[in-house]
This record gives sequence, structure tokens and C-alpha cells, in this order.
Amino acid sequence: MSETLERWGSKRAFILAVTGAAVGLGNIWRFPYVAGENGGAAFLLIYVAFVLLLGIPVMMAEILIGRAGRRGPIQALGALAAQAGASPNWRWLGLFGALTVFCILSFYSVVSGWSIEFLVASINGQFNGASAAEIGAGFETFLANPGLLIFNHSLFLFMTMTVVAAGVSKGLERLNNLLMPLLYALLLLLAVYAATTDGFSTALAWLFLPSFDALTPTVVLHAMGHAFFTLAVGACALMAYGAYMPEEQSLPKAAFAVAALDISVALLAGIAIFSVVFAQGMDPAEGPGLMFVTLPIAFSELPGGAIWLSVFFLLLLLATWTSAINLAEPMVATLQGLGLRRSISTAIVAFSVWLMGLLSAFSFSTLAEFRPLFGRNIFELVSSIPPDVFLPLGGLLIATFAAWVMPHNAAVSALGMGERGYRLWRNIVRWVSIPLTFIVLLGGLL
Ligand code: PHE
Repeated sequence: MSETLERWGSKRAFILAVTGAAVGLGNIWRFPYVAGENGGAAFLLIYVAFVLLLGIPVMMAEILIGRAGRRGPIQALGALAAQAGASPNWRWLGLFGALTVFCILSFYSVVSGWSIEFLVASINGQFNGASAAEIGAGFETFLANPGLLIFNHSLFLFMTMTVVAAGVSKGLERLNNLLMPLLYALLLLLAVYAATTDGFSTALAWLFLPSFDALTPTVVLHAMGHAFFTLAVGACALMAYGAYMPEEQSLPKAAFAVAALDISVALLAGIAIFSVVFAQGMDPAEGPGLMFVTLPIAFSELPGGAIWLSVFFLLLLLATWTSAINLAEPMVATLQGLGLRRSISTAIVAFSVWLMGLLSAFSFSTLAEFRPLFGRNIFELVSSIPPDVFLPLGGLLIATFAAWVMPHNAAVSALGMGERGYRLWRNIVRWVSIPLTFIVLLGGLL
């Protein structure tokens, strides 16, 4: 009896952890603005296709490596490579993952800091009675104030790293998943409200009626990058969670459940946000401020809007917190693997991410015109290249390792779908996910 209970507990814990990592800024902040910049429906369609064809199979590959290796990414990759008689260099994939999450966390923390600012502002009633133009202008003024951005970035990173140092994220994930339905309900409420605005039908058409005229290899690359980003796949961050996965848990079920939840959160946010965009005559390609400007406008028109807006930012903050913890964990684990104490490792990661984050924070003022690469400033670079290029590249290598290199028996048992299920998964990864990722990466980069 107690055994069953315990197993149930850990199965659930696993799903909680993966959902906590997946649902975050990617769904509510990044999806709408990247879709907005990339033409809407065609982007959405391709992104959903990528979640199915690449995101889920590669997520399974990543977790399966962790589950078969039963330790941190670098050690797991090293041990499995040795077992397969493959090059020990595979373990550096873990290091590449750590580099990827380093870049991602640096801007993720700055943007999560915006949520802190907006939470405080909505509690203070600053959006009460404000017009759309005032809300937009307020956001611009906020961005132009690096001191304020840095303060909130520091606060968010501190919140994240304290939890990582203490290693208590389990409790947080539980809280997160307790409150996630509430976040979901709030977005649903917003989407219903959106249906009453004049922007609704335009928003639906814009999100769901694809026109492929504007489709370029770059748009396809962005859609692929976003599929990896939103599922937290490609950085070896989920690999670490696989190590704790119970023997008999079904990997595909977990992966599909997380992906379905993840997409639906993004869709609800998209419907709410784009209805406001079209009702207010705003530009869908407004950029990273899109959610921060539209949602306060939407809420301000609901009865009790200020309260709902505060609750919304609180829940969003919680969702981003658990994602940030998942982003930080592989770096701390990597340093620990090199023999450093956990507290020291956490401090090093915290300080270097904080420093790197300063560059993003200054990208909206002092460094706005500092464009070292492709005519983009630092924030634009770190918020696009690591998600769009590093994650797919990491995912490609992870998939190659799992489907071509790993010892057959270890892979079959870690996947937990029997021999036939394994072959099906392996064929999809070998002949669909890997070539597709490769082609899109190549096409997008050239
Ligand atoms: N999936 C997270 C989000 O959508 C971001 C993330 C990316 C987390 C990669 C971990 C690894 O917010």
C-alpha cells in the first residue's frame, strides 16, 4: 500500500516538475509577441506542428537519457556513451546545454522582473482608469529606467537562486501546480471577455486563418525555436528531471500531457492579447512589450480589474519562477559535478547570470543602439539566438544521441513503451525529427 502511494507521489511529482519548467514566460509573453512579429496564423500552425513532430519526440529523448543515466546531464551522457562504446565527448553536450540556459536565464530574469514591477503597480492601482495610450507610454518610461529594471532583475534572480541553493523546488512546484488552474481560469475569463470586444473576430482570423505569403525560412526557424523554448527542451534541463523519474511511468503520456497544457495556455493568452491589439488598433508586431501593454488594458475594462490584474501577475510570476529554477539547475549541477559545493556553485551562477542580465536591462536605454551582431542589440540577441538556434541544435544532438548512439536495451527500458513502441518513437526521431530540425536550422541560418 505505502509503496503504491509513494510511487503515485513521485509520478505526480515528475509531471509537476516538467509542467513547472514548461509553462512560463514562453506561453504568455513570448508566444504572442513572436507570433505577432511573424505573421500570426502561419507561425502558430507551424509551431504546433513542430511541437508534435519535434518537441514531443525530442522531449522524450531528453528525459529518456536522464532516466537511463540516473545522474546529472554531463555524467549521464558520459556514462551512456561509454556503455555504447561511443566518444566520451558526448558529455560536452551537457556543457552546451548549460551555456544555453545561461544566456536564456539572463534575459528571462529581466523580463520576469517586469512582472514584479507590474504586480506592484497593479496592486497600487496604477492602471485604474488609465487609457490604452497612457498604459503604453508608462511601459516605455519604465523600460527607459535601467535602475528599475536592474532592481527587479536582481530581486527575481535572488528569489530563484535562493530556492535553487536550498534545493526546495518540490514545494514550489506543488504550489505552482495548485495555482496553475487558477492562471488557466483567469486566461479563460480574459478570452471570454475578449469575445465581447470588436477585436475578437479579427484576432481569431489573424491567429487561425493562415496566409503563407509572408512565410520565410526565418519565420519557420522562429517557430521551431519557440517550440523548443516553450517546452523547455534542448538544453538538457529536462534531462536532469528524468533521473528521478519512476520506473513504470509512461514517458509519452507525460510528454503529451505537458505539451497539450502548454499549447492551450499560449492559445488563451494569444486570443486575449490579440483581441485587445485589434480592438485598440495596435500593431501585432509591437515587440516584447505586447503582453505588458495589452493585458492591463484588457483587465482595466473588467469589473474589479485591478484585483484580477494583480492576481494575474502574481500567478505569472509563480509560473516564471519555476521555469527559472529549471533554467538555473543544470548550471549549478554542472559546477557541482566539477567538485564545487552547492552553495558556491549557486553563488557563481547567480553572479554571472546577474552580470549578463545587466546587458539586457541596459538594452532598452543606454545600450539600445549598441548592435554588435545582425543589427540587433544585446537583448534582441540573447532573446532570439539561444532559443532559436542553441535549443534546436542541442535538441538535434540530444535526439541523435538517444536514437542513434545509446545502447539499445538501456533506451528501450528507459522509454518504457516496449520494443514496438520504442521502434516507433525511434523511427520518428531518426527520420522525422532529426532531419527536420537540421533542415530548418540550415535554411533559417542561410
Ligand atoms: N519553457 C520555459 C517557458 O516557456 C522556458 C524554458 C526554456 C525553461 C528552456 C527551461 C529551459 O517559459
